[in-house]
Amino acid sequence: MKINLKVWRQKNNNTAGKLVEYHLDNVSEDMSFLEMFDVLNDSLTRKGEDPVTFDHDCREGICGTCSMYINGRPHGPQTGATTCQLHMRSFNDGDTIVVEPWRARAFPVIKDLMVDRLAFDRIIQAGGYVSVNTGSAPDANEILIPRSIADEAMDAAACIGCGACVAACKNASAMLFVSAKVSQLAILPQGQSEHKERAERMVAQMDAEGFGACSFTGACSVECPKSISLDHIARMNREYLGAKLTSDNVQG
Ligand code: SF4
Ligand code: FES
Repeated sequence: MKINLKVWRQKNNNTAGKLVEYHLDNVSEDMSFLEMFDVLNDSLTRKGEDPVTFDHDCREGICGTCSMYINGRPHGPQTGATTCQLHMRSFNDGDTIVVEPWRARAFPVIKDLMVDRLAFDRIIQAGGYVSVNTGSAPDANEILIPRSIADEAMDAAACIGCGACVAACKNASAMLFVSAKVSQLAILPQGQSEHKERAERMVAQMDAEGFGACSFTGACSVECPKSISLDHIARMNREYLGAKLTSDNVQG
């Protein structure tokens, strides 16, 4: 396949970026999108040019690092898949593909297609954990949990923290990510004792990081590679309201 690429190149967050055109002649339709970028970078390196910086790690849809807008869509045209799971057979011979980094104030560009997503880590550090002693693995197995609840917690835990929900949202809201991380703990007995503080602290950190407000348009869930449900946002709103109404920290 012949592919024309328009790739966002930017030295760092303090300099302006621009789209640069590249042409690849021998792209196999069986290559993943990232392998196609490997081929591009190999040719740039051989020519003595700076290769394109992009995030990746597992290349199996697990780690959530491969963040790119592809033709205006987070992770590209395939539903329920990350960029590393996207193959070139999803495109046509001669296509022009525009590739950009996530665009959100809370995700500043580090270089080219790589953005800084430490804001997500700081939200987890604020409350996305269980700090009380819940015993060892055999103890956990003795707590009876209805199958439907266990399944719901696992669905929430499928979030890989990629940030596509933020990238898809017109307000750059992180509500889908935060709500999945709140839900995965709040609906299990082990996560109950800290559920109020968790919702309050994680939402406060989300706001402090500069993410926008949720207007419930649902673009986040549509573009999420793990199809995280909007139900988690409804649960988090409930958790947060309940926490605010009963918290010792309520002001005035
Ligand atoms: S909710 Fe979905 S899109 Fe958002 S960070 Fe988690 S996996 Fe990525
Ligand atoms: S590289 Fe890990 S999810 Fe894509």
